[in-house]
Amino acid sequence: MLKLTLYICIYVLIILVWKIVIRFKQNMKGTMRYLAGIAGQSGYGSKSTAEQVTQDSSSSLPPHLTAIVTGATSGIGAETARVLAKRGVRIVIPARDLRKAAQVKENIRRENPKAEIVILEIDLSSFASIRKFCTEFLSLEIPLNILINNAGKFSQKLEFSEDKFEMTFATNYLGHFLLTELLLEKMIDTATQTGVQGRIVNVSSVIHGWVKKDHFSFNQMLQPKYYNATRAYAQSKLANIMHANELARQLKARDANVTINAVHPGIVKTGIIRDHKGVITDSLFFVASKLLKSTSQGASTTCYVALNSKTTGVSGRYFADCNESRCSALANDDSEAHKLWKHTRALIHKRLRA
Ligand SMILES: NC(=O)c1ccc[n+]([C@@H]2O[C@H](COP(=O)([O-])OP(=O)(O)OC[C@H]3O[C@@H](n4cnc5c(N)ncnc54)[C@H](OP(=O)(O)O)[C@@H]3O)[C@@H](O)[C@H]2O)c1
Repeated sequence: MLKLTLYICIYVLIILVWKIVIRFKQNMKGTMRYLAGIAGQSGYGSKSTAEQVTQDSSSSLPPHLTAIVTGATSGIGAETARVLAKRGVRIVIPARDLRKAAQVKENIRRENPKAEIVILEIDLSSFASIRKFCTEFLSLEIPLNILINNAGKFSQKLEFSEDKFEMTFATNYLGHFLLTELLLEKMIDTATQTGVQGRIVNVSSVIHGWVKKDHFSFNQMLQPKYYNATRAYAQSKLANIMHANELARQLKARDANVTINAVHPGIVKTGIIRDHKGVITDSLFFVASKLLKSTSQGASTTCYVALNSKTTGVSGRYFADCNESRCSALANDDSEAHKLWKHTRALIHKRLRA
């Protein structure tokens, strides 16, 4: 009996060690691939820029595409808008700061005088503002082929939105959920009428993997008792992936010609990171500066998923460094995603009726 127990223990130990070795090798491979910018299956990698991943698509793109890019007033969103405009896509910039949006428009037009840019006001942390934006956009009666849910907020301290929800979750997740909901029929109609597949991209983050199941309670995320800024940001980014997964399933069930995927852009020193002031953060970024992506590398995965022909028909997936990638087990949990979708829809519809 003692011998048998010993054999079982040794067997379990060998399996454990083997698993650790495999995991280490996989991580090492991933890290080396990232650092060296080695191309993955798509032919692109961590060092590919947004211009590079859309270069081939530019000649094969259907004419008159329209894209809404949220958070295009700075960072990854501004670069995404610039590159899509360069490829001939009409860009709608929803912005809370119209002066910043006008500046982005001017920059794009300087490089590309024919670019069509429409600016409309939005505050993604406010349901009323999102509704107003959608009414204004729909009244323009232009098609909608691409929706890039890119805007992002990292609220350092506990703040509440106009609708009384925690600010990071309200902006990054609830706002984009409502925006997508109000524009979805327009996207489906455009795809049906033009025969061109609609594409939605949710910009998430690798940090989603930090969230454990017992820290993913809908009510706690709306109104947390104990606030932790990083956790709130990670929860909102996990919700972005689950939203993409659940909606992808629903779109497939409806046979709608619209895809939705989530992406991790990579670590880029943009406004969202610059807000983290302090000696430790600054030193860490100084040391890690060689590991960071440029803004154009940061916009590449979004642009790849939004325009490249290799992602046609691909839906409900997660991408990093311009390749399909693995997200956390929780992000892949279909029943959790469905539960989150049901709670969110009920909340939003209750608020909108009120
Ligand atoms: N940078 C990174 O390392 C990194 C890593 C992983 C994921 N991401 C994700 O990438 C996306 C883009 O972030 P970024 O790094 O480019 O950050 P950024 O430079 O700070 O840009 C954030 C954008 O979101 C907009 N925004 C924030 N709150 C808004 C609101 N209530 N209504 C409307 N727009 C709002 C900002 O508008 P204003 O100009 O008005 O502030 C800005 O245009 C985010 O979803 C972020 O979570 C970034």
